[in-house]
Amino acid sequence: MDICVVGAGYVGLVTSACLAYLGNHVIAVESNPERLNSLKSGAVPFFEPGLQEFVQQTSESGFLTFSDNLPEAVKKAQIIFIAVGTPSLPNGESDLSQVMVVARAIGAALDDSKRRIVVNKSTVPVGSGNWVEMLVSQGVQNAQKAQLVPARSGRSEGPSFTVVSNPEFLREGSAIADSFYPDRIVVGSIDEQATSVMQNLYKPILSQTFDAPSFAMRPHGLNSVPFIVTDLASAELIKYSANAFLAMKISFANEISGLCEKVGADVKQVAQGIGLDYRIGKAFLNAGVGWGGSCFGKDVSALMQVAKEYSYPTSLLEATVAVNERQRLVVIKKLQEELKILKGRTVGLMGLSFKPNTDDLRDAPALTIAYQLLKMGASVKAFDPVSNDICKTLHSHLDLIYADSVEDLACDCDALVLVTEWDEFKHADWKKIAKLMRWPLVIDGRNALDEEQVRASGITYRGVGC
Ligand code: UGA
Repeated sequence: MDICVVGAGYVGLVTSACLAYLGNHVIAVESNPERLNSLKSGAVPFFEPGLQEFVQQTSESGFLTFSDNLPEAVKKAQIIFIAVGTPSLPNGESDLSQVMVVARAIGAALDDSKRRIVVNKSTVPVGSGNWVEMLVSQGVQNAQKAQLVPARSGRSEGPSFTVVSNPEFLREGSAIADSFYPDRIVVGSIDEQATSVMQNLYKPILSQTFDAPSFAMRPHGLNSVPFIVTDLASAELIKYSANAFLAMKISFANEISGLCEKVGADVKQVAQGIGLDYRIGKAFLNAGVGWGGSCFGKDVSALMQVAKEYSYPTSLLEATVAVNERQRLVVIKKLQEELKILKGRTVGLMGLSFKPNTDDLRDAPALTIAYQLLKMGASVKAFDPVSNDICKTLHSHLDLIYADSVEDLACDCDALVLVTEWDEFKHADWKKIAKLMRWPLVIDGRNALDEEQVRASGITYRGVGC
């Protein structure tokens, strides 16, 4: 099929490369000239395991091309994906300005040659499907006015299109595997023809009939993926509810972790004990410094904003956020308990990105912890295997001392705090580290280290909730 994906950011680029790999002709439209040039030269401007090679491979095969010419790409396509960013505004609402511009531009570019499906892939508030349809129609009308064609009444006479919602559930760090082996594909539309085209597009994934790429092997036993058709609003709400539920699950584990510390229980054992109940499930019950990233915080707050429009209370969502905010600072309380005075101490942060295998620093717990420690008069060192440089650039106001290895980080530290559970940290040489530190203390903010090994090196170990 001929596909146009507008927005070659994280979601757009992964979607484009995966659809191209499945044999579709994909034009990824990117308006940022710097990003476009870098993609055209084969460089992916952010860190995602395997994506650079994957984009190169699909570009070389001729199935994936990059362009800034939206009208041309729209005219060629049967399916047009909107995958532009919807960042949070200061009041928690989503900034939909990019969606607005793009939807109108798509409308202005449509012609009568075929019926198009406009797919909302960006995470947009409930009701946005209808809104996008209105904007595309406005684009159509604007183009007709500009060409001095007499205004047509109703959509039936203009270019034919329908808007569907197709939320994404991919995680940073495992985006390609999540795209090829999703738990489900959701399409929101009441247009049967459109849902059938979408089902056809995703058929190789739904029936798992494609050759798995070498760097994203098919999970053992996976031979089909459920295809869920809903109305537009339900599809939009599925996206928000999934992220809100996952965030709530983590906050639940974190709340219980505090109680574990009070009563002398171990949250890892509690999580294992409850997670084996299939109704609960063991994923996303890891206690620690809490959730971060560009999605959970943004989506939970957008969901609360939607509810507010209907004067509907969202006590669970509010508690989910409140527990997470409190949780980020538990490691500081532990540092105070162990070191008593933090002023003049040197604390080393192991990891900066909001989770491993990404260089994304958006809403990263490490930044909150660093800011708080600096405010309390400590000196803060940091080392992340991929995010040091990006942190220097984006957060130059934070007075951090950057280290270029775990050993360099440990030098003269009064404590190390594990914030991001990169493999490199899990396999660190703790005996060597113990010798380099001024005071041998490790706070494991992700409960990810081998406690026995750390202790055996003569280091005081403190986890979260144990
Ligand atoms: C999340 C969802 O998992 C994806 O399904 C969704 O598509 C994506 O948001 C999105 O909306 O685009 P992502 O933000 O990439 O994906 O990362 P997650 O793996 O979900 O982790 C989020 C945060 O929760 C991280 O800071 C992680 O360290 C933390 N976390 C995760 C915990 O603190 N405990 C856990 O048990 C699991």
